Amino acid sequence: MADEEKDTLHLNTSAEPEDDTPDEYAENHEEIAKLKAAQEAAAKANNTAGQVVYVPKEHIGELPLLELHDIYKIYKMGTEEVHANDGITINIYDGEFVAIVGKSGSGKSTLMNIIGALDVPTSGRYLINGQDTSSMSDDELAAIRNKKIGFIFQQYNLLPKDNLLDNVCLPLLYAGIPKQERKERAMRQLERVGLSEKWMQKPAQLSGGQQQRVSIARALAGDPELILADEPTGALDSKTSRQVLGFLKDINADGNTIVMITHDNSIALEAKRIVRISDGKVVYDGTAEDYAKLI
Ligand SMILES: Nc1ncnc2c1ncn2[C@@H]1O[C@H](COP(=O)(O)OP(=O)(O)O)[C@@H](O)[C@H]1O
Ligand SMILES: [Mg+2]
Repeated sequence: MADEEKDTLHLNTSAEPEDDTPDEYAENHEEIAKLKAAQEAAAKANNTAGQVVYVPKEHIGELPLLELHDIYKIYKMGTEEVHANDGITINIYDGEFVAIVGKSGSGKSTLMNIIGALDVPTSGRYLINGQDTSSMSDDELAAIRNKKIGFIFQQYNLLPKDNLLDNVCLPLLYAGIPKQERKERAMRQLERVGLSEKWMQKPAQLSGGQQQRVSIARALAGDPELILADEPTGALDSKTSRQVLGFLKDINADGNTIVMITHDNSIALEAKRIVRISDGKVVYDGTAEDYAKLI
């Protein structure tokens, strides 16, 4: 495959969905105050008094897989500054399924680019497995990305000229795995998403839901520490969306850590934990269960 094709894998080409009406409540400042109060209550319930950062009960005492410490991403627009991320502190632990939810412009893509090691913050520290990425070079970030993160995009980002097996092989090619092992491992992941019999087909021969399942298989192939999904159901109808979310839940049940970005509360509620951002700040971090009571 051509080099320029390979590069497209890690580009965030997903378009922001226009319709974010389910989230409009967040514009209401009273709602934000309520969410903040709920977050404090959740922190207290977790016995993390004096600690601003939410730690899920099951993970108290563990070292986080991802640590975001006071992350700022500031864009200078002429004389004005846009705080796309405005002091975000989150810890995410091995085995979690976290949804990051917020309306359009709240800072989700900016945060996803930082979590995905596609970009570095203006200030603050981001650690993966205790490794600080904040001052890494582009090459070092690329290595982290290829080794530790499996990406799932709204538009699938499959290579159209390659068959499904070669698409799923891609992260293993980056990782320098020998050809035969690549094919075996990729085939196992295609089996997991129920598409091994179609291995020789091209992406365009599949439905949207099937293509997204291939991209889930590809994300899993390199056995990454983290699956990062950016609006994974944004291009799918609601029935197919449920199926894709079902697959994400299954792989989480198998022990994979998932961070999913979405503008849609009903999608976010499928995760175990929800981080709500508004104007670049965390306004809720806690269980999906508690979040459901607030919306
Ligand atoms: N490259 C950029 N240059 C200037 N402003 C940006 C840039 N990227 C994002 N922003 C601004 O930062 C804010 C957050 O954007 P973004 O992270 O894309 O939010 P979301 O993904 O939630 O829609 C918005 O106000 C957006 O206009
Ligand atoms: Mg976005």
